[in-house]
Amino acid sequence: METASRVELIAKGGLSEVPSQYIQPPDARPNLHNAGDAAQIPTVDLSSSDSAREAIGDACRNWGAFHVINHGVPINLLDRIRALGRSFFQDSPMEEKLRYACDSTSAASEGYGSRMLLGAKDDVVLDWRDYFDHHTFPISRRNPSRWPIHPPDYRQVVGEYGDEMKKLAQMLLGLISESLSLPCSSIEEAVGEIYQNITVSYYPPCPQPELTLGLQSHSDMGAITLLIQDDVEGLQLYKDAQWLTVPPISDAILVLIADQTEIITNGIYKSAEHRAVTNANRARLSVATFHDPSKSARIAPVSQLSPPFYKEVVYGQYVSSWYSKGPEGKRNLDALLC
Ligand code: OGA
Ligand code: NI
Repeated sequence: METASRVELIAKGGLSEVPSQYIQPPDARPNLHNAGDAAQIPTVDLSSSDSAREAIGDACRNWGAFHVINHGVPINLLDRIRALGRSFFQDSPMEEKLRYACDSTSAASEGYGSRMLLGAKDDVVLDWRDYFDHHTFPISRRNPSRWPIHPPDYRQVVGEYGDEMKKLAQMLLGLISESLSLPCSSIEEAVGEIYQNITVSYYPPCPQPELTLGLQSHSDMGAITLLIQDDVEGLQLYKDAQWLTVPPISDAILVLIADQTEIITNGIYKSAEHRAVTNANRARLSVATFHDPSKSARIAPVSQLSPPFYKEVVYGQYVSSWYSKGPEGKRNLDALLC
């Protein structure tokens, strides 16, 4: 049984200083007075695939991230899952939440948790974040009885949301492939069966945002991530040696290229390095949907883009090393460069 404390409990303690395990080393602390200008993060309109393909190619080359609009996912489903997430984190009593506690000794285990990395208890800086992780694909991993039962439509909405996100992810992987003049199915075939996890992250207000991070700097380890936020800023992208704030756009979905797509595209498209900062006043919520290969999949650059610049990797080994060493930016990917 899990004993790790939740950030929410610390936040509710009303401390004026954060506990020392949450204090980032000076070079990782956010500069909250210079949040940069992220207005230029590209927005791709998916209503026409012809123009979208080109815009996606540019966005993947220059940013590794972009917003999509006219994406076909009902806006009320985005609103519904944000509302359910808020309800779980803000309205359920702690004893109810702890019934869904994840197994903190194994990586990315399903349920309610706070600690992302597996490292020794004392030598990792903790993120100012609580989360709920749902396993949604393949269908054989989907077990809604492990998800909250309140509000009553929680389980159904999470299932529907996962279905819609998977369709969108597949469509995007097709367009991304085509933007490199590859057959539409190339990247999806290189990924193999899609493993999908939906993580709802909750960032309580933090008394010392200048010393902490909601989520440390990383790139996502799988193939493609689809993220929505509420109206509270906090997500930042690293581009041209600067951290830029991603503006919350309620109807749009943020696409983040993840590490396996960087490998498969032989580095022509780079995964997006990102982090979340905290603030002193308002709790923030995001929903990230990860699309990953199976643990046994062997991932390598597609043959059309040779010579390969990355070594082949078994995805499960990539994941284990990520969770034990920590992301520290993109070091796990750098280790695969030929
Ligand atoms: C993640 C992530 C950012 C956010 O869960 O991998 O990057 O805004 N989340 O919560
Ligand atoms: Ni991420």
